[in-house]
Amino acid sequence: MTKAFVVGHPIKHSRSPLIHGHWLKEHGIAGSYERIDVEPVNFGHFLRKFHEQGFAGGNVTIPHKEAAFAGVARRTERAERLKAVNTLWIENGVLWGDNTDVLGFMANLDQSLGIGWEQAVDTALVLGAGGAARGIVAGLQDRPLKRIVVANRTVSKAEELVRDFERYSAVKLAALAWDELNGALAGSQLIVNTTSLGMAGQPPLLIDLDKAPDNAIVSDIVYVPLKTPLLAAAAAQGLRTVDGLGMLLHQAVPGFERWFGVRPEVTPDLRALIVADIEG
Ligand code: ATR
Repeated sequence: MTKAFVVGHPIKHSRSPLIHGHWLKEHGIAGSYERIDVEPVNFGHFLRKFHEQGFAGGNVTIPHKEAAFAGVARRTERAERLKAVNTLWIENGVLWGDNTDVLGFMANLDQSLGIGWEQAVDTALVLGAGGAARGIVAGLQDRPLKRIVVANRTVSKAEELVRDFERYSAVKLAALAWDELNGALAGSQLIVNTTSLGMAGQPPLLIDLDKAPDNAIVSDIVYVPLKTPLLAAAAAQGLRTVDGLGMLLHQAVPGFERWFGVRPEVTPDLRALIVADIEG
């Protein structure tokens, strides 16, 4: 029986076991996917020992993604770019790490908007410059856009992100101060919120969305609630929206395929299962 895990601290709110459990059942695989709570001081030990406990690999979440990056023997190019690892597996006795958040975000845009959506996007505006924003910039900069503008409350973090990532593609990157954000909306055909604003219990993200072009796409990586105030405002204005749940579902696909040998699909049934959990 193949076993996989999600390791974090705390971990009890992770929805990954629901996602992988659904796929295991759907494909009739006698495997398991377990939550494991490991404190930061014990993470290095866990990384060295999980294979001996019968695990093929697993997902890594907060606060261990950087320690996982440092602790694996080999990394994919995507993980190198992000300096964070969220998926582990053993290949020929070697511990590998990947970062599938990038793939998750991009696969969700492709599935939600249809392949080729970039043709109508010159400029993407990314709000926030934390770990999540890094994954999104890494994904977007591999697509044929002209410009990616990163706006952040602490502008120095946006500038650092631009410096770290501009070497990887010809797409122009620019940092923007948070109070100049509304001025950039008119020229942005894709607007992505990666900050925690709009999350349940947090203040909403308030921007002058009416300045955005009629063909703008508005995406939020927050998925609790599913319809954030930003997405509700965008939809009320007739703009296309992409919610954050799809990213969570799609980022799980490559790990499942590595550990269990079957490429699973993000279906309406799976989405409904997680929506029920979020709303329940
Ligand atoms: P994650 O890994 O989810 O990206 P993070 O690295 O803590 O988490 O980043 C959180 C992002 O939300 C940051 O861009 C943060 O801005 P700062 O860099 O200025 O801290 C942004 N953020 C959080 N609260 C915010 C607020 N009240 N207004 C604007 N931005 C906020």
